Amino acid sequence: MFSRRLPPHTETNALTLALDRLRAAGAAIVDLTESNPTRVGIRYPEGLLGPLADDRALRYEPHPLGAPPARAAVAEDQRRRGAQAEPQHVVLAASSSEAYSWLFKLLCDPGDRVLVPRPSYPLFEHLTRLEGVCAETYGLDYHGRWTIDLDSVAAAPAGTRAIVVVSPNNPTGSFVTADEIARLAELCRARGWAVVGDEVFADYVLEADGALTDIASRSDVLSFTLAGLSKTVGLPQLKLGWIIVGGPAAQRDAALKALELIADSFLSVSTPVQAAAPHLLRAGATVRAAIQDRTVRNLHALRAAARRFPACDVLRVEGGWSAVIRVPSTRSEEQLVIELLERERVLVHPGYFFDFPREAYLVLSLLPPDAVFADAVARVLRRAGE
Ligand SMILES: Cc1ncc(COP(=O)(O)O)c(C=O)c1O
Repeated sequence: MFSRRLPPHTETNALTLALDRLRAAGAAIVDLTESNPTRVGIRYPEGLLGPLADDRALRYEPHPLGAPPARAAVAEDQRRRGAQAEPQHVVLAASSSEAYSWLFKLLCDPGDRVLVPRPSYPLFEHLTRLEGVCAETYGLDYHGRWTIDLDSVAAAPAGTRAIVVVSPNNPTGSFVTADEIARLAELCRARGWAVVGDEVFADYVLEADGALTDIASRSDVLSFTLAGLSKTVGLPQLKLGWIIVGGPAAQRDAALKALELIADSFLSVSTPVQAAAPHLLRAGATVRAAIQDRTVRNLHALRAAARRFPACDVLRVEGGWSAVIRVPSTRSEEQLVIELLERERVLVHPGYFFDFPREAYLVLSLLPPDAVFADAVARVLRRAGE
């Protein structure tokens, strides 16, 4: 009855069943998969949402690409990060996820392919499929730091239209380097691909050399840089994301025109959030600082705890909100995470959730409150490292 854009019905996995059982029995579980910043005790400044009630929002004046002051505020915020952006190259969407769907509509015919990193964020599978597009993976390899396996990029099949570069990547926390960007741009030029640069976590640097790709400033490759309020000021519920379009002027301007038509078909960004955007982007700096402080402390706590468990290796993480631990593969990842849940009452993600090519990895969110995190991490390491 339904289209093949939806995933085939699959059985509920053993981890979800175990979690449902424990929750139904009222068990208290420490959730180290929490990625929602509004649920981890971060302080938001009083009155932060006040401008959402501005009377200017009583008037509906749709602008498909976004209201000019909001687009200007996004461009200014991008410059704060040290990248280039002009307001007329900014496109507003309800979220980065929606921005992806618009870009796949823009760049791909049904059945075309988009390259996505592996390991990475599992939503790509759905976001591509829902647009009738195939996600093909390219590899990220770890040898003290994560790097792009450029051979796997070059081996992309015919019908590829774009490459998605996530910097820093979720969950590996790896930034794409300037050298990698230059090599990818060369391939993109030769093959006629566009680059989609996902920089939603770019504000959260955990190693000093993590840097923006600033891909939009390149004039040799059509590019789309994504970010949004969800991560940059910890407000996923406001639903405001954006695309910064860059590249050769004629291609860039044609892409903006086509995106205007796509955006005009939905007009999905609310007027109140656009009116409030300049204020939110300025005032949200304190939220960003609080989240950054939390992730830095939790990462230190994790590294300190891991020193007592040499069999567990906390991988280098350059940015973002999560950490990856390589653990002994004495049992499958699934057995281990279920054991952690049932015996330690701690929920963590197994590596396979992010499509790590081999076992055994655990992925932990760095967002939970410090005290909860330190205690839960000690239990995870003890059981995983035994
Ligand atoms: C790498 C990455 N890109 C995009 C998103 C989606 O963000 P948004 O809330 O703006 O849709 C996420 C969400 O976690 C993410 O991890």
